[in-house]
Amino acid sequence: MQVYHLTIQENGHSRRFVYEDRDEALTRFADAIAAGLDAKLDEVVRGPAAPKPTERLPEEIVPVRHQGELLGTVSIEKKPGDSLTPTERKLVPDLGSESGLVRRNVALIADLRASRQRLVVAQDDERRKLERNLHDGAEQQLVALAVKLRLAEFLVERDPSATKTMLTDLRTETGEALESLRDLARGIYPPQLADKGLAAALESEARKGSVPTEVRSEGIGRYPPDVESAVYFCALEALNNVAKHAGATRAEVRLAQADGELTFEVSDDGDGFDPAQISYGTGLQAMADRLDAIGGTLKVHSQPGKGAQVTGRVPV
Ligand SMILES: Nc1ncnc2c1ncn2[C@@H]1O[C@H](COP(=O)(O)OP(=O)(O)OP(=O)(O)O)[C@@H](O)[C@H]1O
Ligand SMILES: [Mg+2]
Repeated sequence: MQVYHLTIQENGHSRRFVYEDRDEALTRFADAIAAGLDAKLDEVVRGPAAPKPTERLPEEIVPVRHQGELLGTVSIEKKPGDSLTPTERKLVPDLGSESGLVRRNVALIADLRASRQRLVVAQDDERRKLERNLHDGAEQQLVALAVKLRLAEFLVERDPSATKTMLTDLRTETGEALESLRDLARGIYPPQLADKGLAAALESEARKGSVPTEVRSEGIGRYPPDVESAVYFCALEALNNVAKHAGATRAEVRLAQADGELTFEVSDDGDGFDPAQISYGTGLQAMADRLDAIGGTLKVHSQPGKGAQVTGRVPV
């Protein structure tokens, strides 16, 4: 008598199911493959004359592909001498193509989870940095101001001229405290981005940079805050990379809207690099994740000696 052993590997465990009905075994095998599980189906002859399971030979192996990319194989094993039935022959390639799609989807979901995880970690890091900057910067400055004000209050009648000098210092220090708070606010959500939009906010940052940078925009309007801030911070990171790595004499930021897409391109005339040789650092990875979270994409194009172009696209 023949039975069918279905072995399924899941989370490091192996489970075996035994079926007497061949169609049921094939259906369960197909279900397991479609669910993205590692499954194997063996036909076993029961009884004294049964060959040992190890004597079975791979009968049919089909590649598991998705859009041309080889993702694995599905193999059916039968006992020596038995060949696949016409139904099985038809089913196996179908399984191969179906499970290709499923495996691709499983891989995409895993990528998505990893990218969300990196975004959460990056946001936590940003919050910690902000807290540290507030504590070490503006908070310390305000504490020092409060102490000096108490001192000035104490001195005002005893030493009017020393108090006057102190008040002048206090005015300068108040201005500095205000400036450091404004810097922090710009790092969180630049007021200029909120007031005037992407082109104006990037122009004002570009003016401060060490590499002469031109900002060009075509048909740019206003967009939801998450889109504007993603494009703004991605373009800024690309400009930071130009300043840090490119050795460029000039850079350009292009913003455009066409066919339901907002695009930005940051290009430079610097040393360039071979994208195949360089893995994404925190900067490029955060850019890709940030754009991915709003349905966008990032492309890096560069060649040694020919500058670099970083392009982002976001549906709007
Ligand atoms: N415009 C550019 N010109 C030349 N090389 C670049 C340019 N942009 C990126 N690179 C290369 O790509 C690498 C990865 O960039 P990425 O922004 O991910 O990391 P990083 O700038 O090295 O570090 P981080 O951004 O985390 O501070 C850089 O180290 C650099 O070698
Ligand atoms: Mg960087």
